[in-house]
Amino acid sequence: MGSTQIAFKNPATATLLELVKSRRTYYGLKAESPISDDAIQSIIQDSVLHVPSSFNTQTSRIVLLLKEEHEKVWDIAIKVMEGLVEAGKVPKEMFENHTKPKLLSFRAAYGTVLFFVDYDSLAPIKEKFAIYADKFDPFALESNAMSQYLVWVALQSEGFGANLQHYSPLIDEEVRKTWDLPASWKMDAQLVFGAPTSEPGEKAFSPLEERFKVFGKSA
Ligand SMILES: Cc1cc2nc3c(=O)[nH]c(=O)nc-3n(C[C@H](O)[C@H](O)[C@H](O)COP(=O)(O)O)c2cc1C
Repeated sequence: MGSTQIAFKNPATATLLELVKSRRTYYGLKAESPISDDAIQSIIQDSVLHVPSSFNTQTSRIVLLLKEEHEKVWDIAIKVMEGLVEAGKVPKEMFENHTKPKLLSFRAAYGTVLFFVDYDSLAPIKEKFAIYADKFDPFALESNAMSQYLVWVALQSEGFGANLQHYSPLIDEEVRKTWDLPASWKMDAQLVFGAPTSEPGEKAFSPLEERFKVFGKSA
């Protein structure tokens, strides 16, 4: 979808775009890994080091959780949701039939990558470039999203399936305490990954013509 056969100068470009096209959301995951934990770690570390940030502020923080440590995140989410059920804020039936099975399916995976932004670290640059002050927070989140995407694509390239979750702020406090993380790290997303046990669902694409324009192109 989206492109005809194009001859790129560098074959790696075609490979990169193939990876981009094949990345999907996988919900059926199990606790197996096609690669070493060192290889997973190096993907994450490369994303921390090399994904760009505005003014090179380097605001993203990432925590990689594997196996039993990964399971703890989803135990936390289940416990928090159970508390909401007890408090009458979430219907018990919805929790038992939908939320809990979903959280258990995340728990059944191999790992979770937690993505954070350290907004506090932006204080000096906000002062220095006051004219941009209100831009730095959204820029930091955009940079974080780039890391999320890179890690997602790279993990899938290595044979994992992954899905992206957003259980903040519900789980933030317990996560911070469990892994003794700095209070200034604000969590944005959780990327759950594992060996795929099922294929992603069908995906519909809105017409490209409504979403893309080009001007000045040579024939
Ligand atoms: C910014 C963003 C937030 C998302 N949040 C969630 C989420 O909270 N839970 C979830 O299951 N999927 C989430 N997704 C996954 C999207 O639903 C999914 O990427 C989209 O439907 C396209 O499907 P694909 O990933 O298979 O291409 C999110 C994706 C993006 C890019």
